[in-house]
Amino acid sequence: MQFVNTTPLQPLDHLSSLLGVELRMKLDQYFPCFGGGSKARKFAEILHEIRRAGANAVVTAGSANSNHARVVALACAQYGWKCTIVIHDTEDYGKANLRLMKLTGANLVFVPMQEVADRMNHEMSVLVSSGYTPYYVYGGGHHPAGIRAFHEAVHEFSLQAETWSPDIVIVASGTGGTQAGLTVGFHELYARTQVIGISIARKREPGKKAVVDAISAYGIDHQRGSPDVTKIDFRDDWIEQGYGESCDAKVEETIRIVASTAGVILDPIYTGKAMNALFDLVERREIARDSRVLFWHTGTIENFLSSKVT
Ligand SMILES: Cc1ncc(COP(=O)(O)O)c(C=O)c1O
Repeated sequence: MQFVNTTPLQPLDHLSSLLGVELRMKLDQYFPCFGGGSKARKFAEILHEIRRAGANAVVTAGSANSNHARVVALACAQYGWKCTIVIHDTEDYGKANLRLMKLTGANLVFVPMQEVADRMNHEMSVLVSSGYTPYYVYGGGHHPAGIRAFHEAVHEFSLQAETWSPDIVIVASGTGGTQAGLTVGFHELYARTQVIGISIARKREPGKKAVVDAISAYGIDHQRGSPDVTKIDFRDDWIEQGYGESCDAKVEETIRIVASTAGVILDPIYTGKAMNALFDLVERREIARDSRVLFWHTGTIENFLSSKVT
């Protein structure tokens, strides 16, 4: 397999000593297209399907902080596709991602959450009647192609890691696609590695179900077998007040510690919650001393810059 868009795998010695584990980070924040991050990795796969379908317009949805929506806006600008984003949020251009969406000239439509699905369908019809061939992209890039992106990312990781094999992988989990792809990939190549998804919003049962459903929608390789979906580990203990920029003092402190000991920027909506979980799991000894831990950094700096963390 050849990987065109690779991201660094970084050992973090100071933070490892502080935590008492062997910590490495897969830095998808440096994914080299569309502003980077896990959503860029996903969309780089989804866009092959858009091209295959011969589409010249995209309709998707997200919040003002949505990395996915920012990625779609930048990608559409690059490919010359018309872009409509249905946003279930306020029109607050203090949010860096929303500002970037606006900068690309994407058509931004603001609606209440409960109207998103109807409005997306409406925008698809409007584009068809204007002569476009639009492609419907689910919020969060929740497509099997996005799951494949993370399945393949584990192959990319394994080439970089050589003989180093993680006991535990920690990743921020929302719609569940990233965790689903990593679960399939680690099951295939490492078998004993445990992938733990840290919820950014959903409660445990619906969050876990989303990961399980994503794995079955993706389909499995019958030769290598399916991951045991009863063992999907999706934790909701670090949601704070839910999705959004709400951020308690402990998450802020975690973000500061990681910035000052590793030079890595996290954010309070996604990656800060996942790292907060890692700190707690180490403190509770649920992650044993000297474990090999891989933190999959999914974010980009936009979410930090939109926050009030100093
Ligand atoms: C930075 C970041 N991390 C993690 C996630 C969760 O990814 P997924 O929706 O694939 O579970 C998101 C998306 O919401 C995100 O933007």
